[in-house]
Amino acid sequence: MFEKLHQLPIVGGWIREQTNQVRSDIRNLLGRFRGERQHPVVKTSSKSQPDEFETKLPSKTLTVTVTSIERETPSAVTVNLQPITNEIISYIAGQFITLQLTLNGEVFHRAYSLCVPPRQQDTLTITVKEIPNGVVSSYINQRLKSGDKLEILRPSGRFTIVPESQRKKHYFLIAGGSGITPMKAIALEVLEKEIESYVTIIFGNRTENEIIFREKFMDISILHSDRFVVKYVVENPTSTWTDTIGILDKNVLSQLLDQTQRDEIQQTDHLYYLCGPVGMMTGAKELLRERNVSANQIHEERFFTLDTGKNKSTTPNTNTLDSQKDSETLVTIRLRGQPTLVKAKQDQSILDAGLAAGIPMPFSCTMGGCGACMVKLVSGKVTMPEPNGLTTDEVNAGYVLACVGCPNGECTVEIE
Ligand code: FES
Repeated sequence: MFEKLHQLPIVGGWIREQTNQVRSDIRNLLGRFRGERQHPVVKTSSKSQPDEFETKLPSKTLTVTVTSIERETPSAVTVNLQPITNEIISYIAGQFITLQLTLNGEVFHRAYSLCVPPRQQDTLTITVKEIPNGVVSSYINQRLKSGDKLEILRPSGRFTIVPESQRKKHYFLIAGGSGITPMKAIALEVLEKEIESYVTIIFGNRTENEIIFREKFMDISILHSDRFVVKYVVENPTSTWTDTIGILDKNVLSQLLDQTQRDEIQQTDHLYYLCGPVGMMTGAKELLRERNVSANQIHEERFFTLDTGKNKSTTPNTNTLDSQKDSETLVTIRLRGQPTLVKAKQDQSILDAGLAAGIPMPFSCTMGGCGACMVKLVSGKVTMPEPNGLTTDEVNAGYVLACVGCPNGECTVEIE
């Protein structure tokens, strides 16, 4: 009896999600009777979508209505959004949307992962953790309400899973704090569409109170008990905590990976998804390298959680003298082979300079975290803050992030 009573609110969360799904299915069905066209869910990699460039244009914002807000933890809320056109927005599990908010006359862009996989419904769901003094995250947690309208940029991002029904893999989703948000979508996508595969989530937090989706993961465990495991690591737990105590560093991760292996899946069929604080990501990658996990088995998402003050999370060239800041340099921006010469101040990002010149540059988070604004540096030098959202391979291949990259003298970049 106690167990059953205890499970009621847990199953309630699952029922709510299923009810939303049924509502959406009925809406779609009625739409079909009325002759409305269904929007396909794109299942290919975002790089291969022919209209990817178009959908990333800054002018392509979309108005959505906040349909409901659910408190997940004392410092995080889940927000459901619906396009005012009732359009079904195509995306891939693991992608994010960028909110474009104007607060006190200043425009802010913030990227938030979609935490529900694509399900042919017109709802987009994000979970936002409040950051102390965070301008946008505080607004969303404290003031946003149902019925409000928001502007968003369409889904983008390369931290994705495209399921294959015949595939048998073991997915290790390693997250810290709000890094769990894309993992929930990825876990559900695998469990629902790759029915031979296993999912293990290893999730670090400072306190139990901060664990996002704890109840939802219990729901999922009930549904997929043979293929889904969550291992929690908490730094400062209460006395009743029974899972791992500590920081999700290399040693703790090593032990948890050993505990959660499945004999029937070889290491070459493991896939690792990492999203969390820089220290956690660095330790995890070191460990995986030591275990001879190949680079193409590792996927990482590097969002920076700084949400205070100005729109940009980082300020390159902080040592630049005021007199130097005013000096201008020339940047050639090539778009589909067409060069445009633009003037940029020394501390101005290539993205800002390009947009000011009317070039339809792709971007999303504007914070150096998502890679949507990545351009190839053809000649010259660009200064970028470290760390940033580029992988080592991308840096080695000559890519820079236009949103946080400032020209260090004359340079040429190519939008690919
Ligand atoms: S727009 Fe996201 S990294 Fe530049």
